[in-house]
Amino acid sequence: MNYIGSKLSLLEFLEDAIKQVVDENCNIFCDLFAGTGIVGSHFKKKGYRIRANDIQYYSYVLNRHYIGNHRELVFEKLTNEISELKDISIEKRKNFVCTYLSNIEGSKGFIYNNYCLGGTKDKKESRQYFSDENGMRCDAIRQKIESWKEQRLVSDDEYYFLLSSLIECIDKHANTASVYGAFLKKLKRSAQNSLVLKPAELIVNDQEHEVFNDDINEIAGKINGDILYLDPPYNHRQYATNYHLLETIAKYDNPKIYGKTGLRNYDNQKSLYCSRLQVKKAFRDLILKAKTKYIFLSYNNEGLMTLSDIKEVLSLRGEYGFFTREYNRFKADKTENRQHKASKTVEYLHYVVCEEY
Ligand SMILES: C[S@@+](CC[C@H](N)C(=O)[O-])C[C@H]1O[C@@H](n2cnc3c(N)ncnc32)[C@H](O)[C@@H]1O
Repeated sequence: MNYIGSKLSLLEFLEDAIKQVVDENCNIFCDLFAGTGIVGSHFKKKGYRIRANDIQYYSYVLNRHYIGNHRELVFEKLTNEISELKDISIEKRKNFVCTYLSNIEGSKGFIYNNYCLGGTKDKKESRQYFSDENGMRCDAIRQKIESWKEQRLVSDDEYYFLLSSLIECIDKHANTASVYGAFLKKLKRSAQNSLVLKPAELIVNDQEHEVFNDDINEIAGKINGDILYLDPPYNHRQYATNYHLLETIAKYDNPKIYGKTGLRNYDNQKSLYCSRLQVKKAFRDLILKAKTKYIFLSYNNEGLMTLSDIKEVLSLRGEYGFFTREYNRFKADKTENRQHKASKTVEYLHYVVCEEY
């Protein structure tokens, strides 16, 4: 997923730097601003036990699958509804169920009625976040997944796998420049292509992992581990508004929505890390609560906290250091925020080795 602040292209940098600092006995890696789950997934593949968290529910869903799921999915009970599944080998069932869902008939549900032209053209605000066809496909698939869950035809693991597959795939067809803060007037090419559900990657291993959906400052003091990796928002842009549609598809809770873009209420998901006035205090509180020996923080040279703020706060816990890497700016920053002249920023990985933890 093309996600603000994604560390997909920095995974090797992060791993190399972290390896230079930590000792061999580290086993538990905590990724508590987890976003797409790509960092946790990387370290899960390296054999770590992962504890992941994010305040957004769509992110919880993704992490509940990419991190939490670690055994093959069998879809045992679903054979009651889809009898052909019995003849499919277990490894191929994920694909089979996704194809089955891709082929069900579209339905005019919450997404079509509020975020597609067909459903909104006669309303006060017309919106075109998805093609009519994809909006209806999304609704039908989302409703089917929920009804399977209600009928106990899928386990929790299978449910989060299916929801993650839907979130990943629908995002590829969004009619936006990059995030859900606005939609395009004309349907772009990728938005015209039909939504096809592809199985989200399943990372199988023999470790148990834990996934949470909470404000980091509420939860950090309760999570033990060896390495704490922090990747907070760097600027004022709230993830709750930029990804509101993914939140609504994940929750599918018929929220009250408002305005041109059909925002949902996000009072309990406003991040202090997006506020210049509050970020340092929140960060200090978090660092003083953390219970791991090693703390790493990704941040760049243009973020709301200054480099000296970060050094001052991390040094409260022990010996401080940092690594740097030049990094290409996120696509939306280039188009939406023309005051940025440089196309590259310097990405920092700050760390502290805690004296007491
Ligand atoms: C820079 S992104 C993380 C990107 C992630 N490392 C990746 O590669 O996909 C920051 C994340 O922090 C989450 N977030 C913001 N404030 C939070 C808070 N107070 N508690 C927990 N998560 C928060 C956002 O929802 C967002 O997913």
